Amino acid sequence: EMASKEGYPHFMLKEIHEQPLAINSTLAGIEEGAFNKVVNAILDSRKILIIGAGTSYHAGLVGDYLLTSMLGLDTHTLISSEYRKYLNAVNDGDTVIAISQSGETIDTLVAVRAFKERGAKIIAISNVIDSAIPRESNYVLYTRAGPEIGVAATKTFTTQLTVLTILALKIGVATGKLTTNEYRSAMDMIGKIPGLLQNVITKTEGKVKALSEHMSKKQSAYYLGRGIGVPLSMEGALKLKEIAYIHAEAYPAGESKHGPIALVEENYPVVFSILDDDNADAMLGNVMEMKARDAYIIGLVPDKYVGKFRELLNVTLEMPSIDYRVAPVIYIVPMQLLAYYTAVARGYDPDKPRNLAKTVTVE
Ligand code: G6P
Repeated sequence: EMASKEGYPHFMLKEIHEQPLAINSTLAGIEEGAFNKVVNAILDSRKILIIGAGTSYHAGLVGDYLLTSMLGLDTHTLISSEYRKYLNAVNDGDTVIAISQSGETIDTLVAVRAFKERGAKIIAISNVIDSAIPRESNYVLYTRAGPEIGVAATKTFTTQLTVLTILALKIGVATGKLTTNEYRSAMDMIGKIPGLLQNVITKTEGKVKALSEHMSKKQSAYYLGRGIGVPLSMEGALKLKEIAYIHAEAYPAGESKHGPIALVEENYPVVFSILDDDNADAMLGNVMEMKARDAYIIGLVPDKYVGKFRELLNVTLEMPSIDYRVAPVIYIVPMQLLAYYTAVARGYDPDKPRNLAKTVTVE
């Protein structure tokens, strides 16, 4: 077992560190033909549904953000087990993007079958070749993260985001929403992700490890973002719940005043994902309102805004100033590390969280 962990104490830590490689392999394995078919299917459909469970659902929400806000497509994302809501709304030729790392999650498979029956075309995004969901789908796009052993998804999530972002860009250029130049420069930016991700690991790991000592004594935390930072925060919160067993809730930062801020008292941990996007000023206001309640504020901040935010933050995790479309892939990494080190500080095995299975094959 030690050998396959390659010297890391846990598979999860190894898999977090493997993400630059996993993304490189996914980029190298992109099959243009498969993408073209998927793009054509989407161009022919009126509506796009995205389904998934757990982390794959969060990847779906990030993809949804791009398809909706960047391209203006009629996209809806749902948790696989809630597919019935849309059964009546899906028709012949609509497309359903089914995201499943394992390709075997029964909730997603059941939804795939039901939507297929309605005449929808199914596009699977999976990490496991020839697994059940790809086999029952019309088209498949594979991530090439390699086997993921840790129950909490890490490298399969960031490779899913990579595939979804490329898909959105390809749809964008095919529909004329993006110019060829915009498409090319965005693709160049995707090529830079592995390097950026490696830098973020190197720069933040020590600081996050120190922070985890503090976090390990907490009972509850908020993860806040705006825009594409919302599903990103949802995934950050899920990691902490899954392996560190600390209650964590993510919601859009603008909602604090409509309820959740009632819980905030001195030293209540709040993790803000501040992106280099149109929401940065509004996020500053949201950080200030938490500061006024003496919350313990952890901020993931683009380097160009560090000066603006640092005074308000208890812990500043400096992130590269990058296009919002690739930010989730990079920003999730310190949150994965925070969950990992917090679980270890609390004496839990992050690879085998209680009550959870890597792949859930019962409804
Ligand atoms: C389980 C795992 C999660 C995972 C979810 C979906 O609940 O514990 O980590 O995100 O299944 O898995 P899938 O293989 O469909 O992506």
